[in-house]
Amino acid sequence: MKKSILITGGAGFIGSHVIRRFVNKYPDYQIINLDVLTYAGNLENLTDIETKPNYKFIKADITDETAIDKVFADNKIEGVVHLAAESHVDRSISDPMAFIKTNILGTVVLLNAAKKYWKDNYDGKLFYHISTDEVYGSLGEEGLFTEETSYDPRSPYSASKASSDHLVRAYHHTYGLPVVISNCSNNYGGNQFPEKLIPLAINNIKNSKPIPVYGKGENVRDWLFVEDHASAIDLIFHKGKHGDTYNIGGNNEWKNIDLIKLLCKIMDDKLQRPNGESEKLITYVKDRAGHDLRYAIDSTKLQKELGWSPSLQFEEGLTKTVEWYLKNQKWLDDIVSGGYQQYYQKQYVTR
Ligand code: NAD
Ligand code: TYD
Repeated sequence: MKKSILITGGAGFIGSHVIRRFVNKYPDYQIINLDVLTYAGNLENLTDIETKPNYKFIKADITDETAIDKVFADNKIEGVVHLAAESHVDRSISDPMAFIKTNILGTVVLLNAAKKYWKDNYDGKLFYHISTDEVYGSLGEEGLFTEETSYDPRSPYSASKASSDHLVRAYHHTYGLPVVISNCSNNYGGNQFPEKLIPLAINNIKNSKPIPVYGKGENVRDWLFVEDHASAIDLIFHKGKHGDTYNIGGNNEWKNIDLIKLLCKIMDDKLQRPNGESEKLITYVKDRAGHDLRYAIDSTKLQKELGWSPSLQFEEGLTKTVEWYLKNQKWLDDIVSGGYQQYYQKQYVTR
């Protein structure tokens, strides 16, 4: 009997990298990708593994209690890696309710299903909740977020993720549910929806369109290559102490404007444009409401206790990322045209 692991949000950016890693590395696991396929979910992210015998896709909404209960019962789920979420801060500013529903209610539906189906037999079971460093709020010029930093979320997105973290911990303390949580910094890499800074800028530079920089471009983010996040998730899922939290970060802080300039340099090189050509596209636009100034993670606990470290330097990772988007032109075009929605119909419904 294979061990059934439910991975939610597997058609999204980080989820697809986690699914690929688990499907390829653990043939003894039955990996179930549960995703409702919002605008951010794209099964084209998984074409290379979709026919593997230990992979199965289920289209379902994590807020749908009946559907989630059935998934647990039908598949004898023993582990959960929960990534499904509304994930874009700007969208949370214009439509907070979608974030409350998926990120808070959806997490509780999953927790309840785990509690119900695992009953009191928690042997070999784990509910792993994937969260963000944004729950800790915003830093000034100095300091790093540790696992002890108090929560101070400041956007509807981060408040909904903070809320879900609290609920996961509450189910551990109240019901003894085996849980683990990780809070990661900004990810970058292939398959990221081009609403987020790096793929949006790559797409615009490629098409010689303005690169929108919010405010003065002085906000700082700590960037981690997505496959390094997936390797940390793998390690924490297998070796993390139940009830604990682990911070994951790249130790790689960049002001937005400096990051964009580096990206422009790499793009000029790859597109064989004259040096400085892409930088001319930089356009300062109105700042995001409540824009957090700085995020930076201290991942000492994960490094010391579980021996994790990031594998790539930023310039190398960013170059790999640019190459991925230039090579996967069709992926980008399909997203921009909405064509990937037809992919699901063709691949799973009409055949
Ligand atoms: P994403 O937006 O690319 O993907 C989210 C996935 O969840 C999509 O496939 C979407 O279809 C699915 N989904 C959304 N609502 C759903 C619902 N109600 N039911 C079922 N599926 C649903 O997000 P991402 O960037 O890959 O982030 C994944 C997780 O990692 C999120 O929980 C996010 O908070 C967290 N995280 C992201 C970052 C980052 O930099 N992107 C950093 C730290 C933590
Ligand atoms: P984003 O990729 O949305 O991630 P997050 O807000 O979760 O950190 O944004 C990264 C940074 O880039 C953030 O400081 C906002 C800024 N930004 C821009 O300057 N222009 C843009 O078009 C976007 C999407 C983000």
